[in-house]
Amino acid sequence: MSISSISLKSNIRDYNAFFVDSCDFLEEYKKTENKVFIVDENVWKHHADGCLSLIKDSDTLVLPISEEAKCLDSVLTLYDQMLERSAKRNITIISIGGGITQDITGYAASTLYRGVNWVYVPTTLLAQADSCVGSKTSLNYKHFKNLVGTFYPPTSIYIYSQFLDTLQDFDYYSGVGEVVKLHLMGGEEKIEKLVGRMDQVIDKDHSVMTDVIRDSLLIKKGYMEDDEFDLGRRNMLNFGHCFGHALESATDFMMPHGQAVTLGMIIANKVAKNRGLLNDALQEHINQNILWPAVKLPEKAFSFDNEAVVEAMKQDKKRIGEDLALVMLTDSHEMVKVTDLAIDEALASLKQFQDDVCRV
Ligand SMILES: NC(=O)c1ccc[n+]([C@@H]2O[C@H](COP(=O)([O-])OP(=O)(O)OC[C@H]3O[C@@H](n4cnc5c(N)ncnc54)[C@H](O)[C@@H]3O)[C@@H](O)[C@H]2O)c1
Ligand SMILES: [Zn+2]
Repeated sequence: MSISSISLKSNIRDYNAFFVDSCDFLEEYKKTENKVFIVDENVWKHHADGCLSLIKDSDTLVLPISEEAKCLDSVLTLYDQMLERSAKRNITIISIGGGITQDITGYAASTLYRGVNWVYVPTTLLAQADSCVGSKTSLNYKHFKNLVGTFYPPTSIYIYSQFLDTLQDFDYYSGVGEVVKLHLMGGEEKIEKLVGRMDQVIDKDHSVMTDVIRDSLLIKKGYMEDDEFDLGRRNMLNFGHCFGHALESATDFMMPHGQAVTLGMIIANKVAKNRGLLNDALQEHINQNILWPAVKLPEKAFSFDNEAVVEAMKQDKKRIGEDLALVMLTDSHEMVKVTDLAIDEALASLKQFQDDVCRV
């Protein structure tokens, strides 16, 4: 029988992610006296007359969503809106939306009165399968992405996979990148399970998505629970992100995050293969059956400048010394992190990647 909830340990407070097949759980929060619902504007547009109609006559704030809005000003606006409603220390914030909603409302919940009750309902694949657990809230500051933030988990998370129906392909396939990453980090059994249902994931097939999300969260839980503050093993979750972040920045953020991470994993696997850490057969198997099927980018997206990518990698705030850091998958399906990736080595792998693209 599949489990209907996952419990998570945190230094701040333990919490649960519940898998639900309707939004009836909102009834309970609707009855809560001192509460506010904060809903992503696009989620509200699609679902106010559907599964969210339960809260239509409740106190609901509709949140404007953009990467630019993920900043302190939006948090200040939320403080004002909550204070206008005489928000007290015992207020419950119920936020409904993707990662941007999670970051803005989570930051507000963690700082108002030094922390109020916060319930989170993720509505994108990325947020359901990845970001909803892990306690991080992040805001952009000036041109620095995710520079400001706190560690603060919601008290409860409710995952309703039907929200994914209204998600645009661009946002859905960004989430697929993180799902793929977590499965590749989950050992041979999880990798083969994903291979068997990759077509269904690409087709957003409901019969598997709840289970795929559950597996993703359980794998993430395994990496972060004993390292909530990201000092050791949790670092491995950066798989695909070393090249991925640099690709995003070298393409002026035109490439969706999860898609950049997917290319980042293909390139990291090349480095691993060149170093003798990943054999040809396993690399090919993963590329053909998982990574390339997850790539949904127009051809022009591959014509990035390798020098610009490496330049962006050099700017990594965690970089120490001349070389670069990289997380890689190995033959034994274990993850390894190195800090001695040479610039020339990174360039050579980027070049090999582009040669492969030309051949396809
Ligand atoms: N806090 C963390 O641990 C963490 C982890 C990873 C990413 N993030 C952040 O998350 C953000 C990306 O989040 P995301 O990919 O979840 O998307 P998002 O919040 O950026 O939303 C993407 C788009 O989808 C819309 N949307 C959301 N749910 C919808 C639905 N069900 N139907 C239709 N439209 C919907 C939104 O309005 C928006 O236009 C980034 O800012 C990233 O930095 C945070
Ligand atoms: Zn990511």
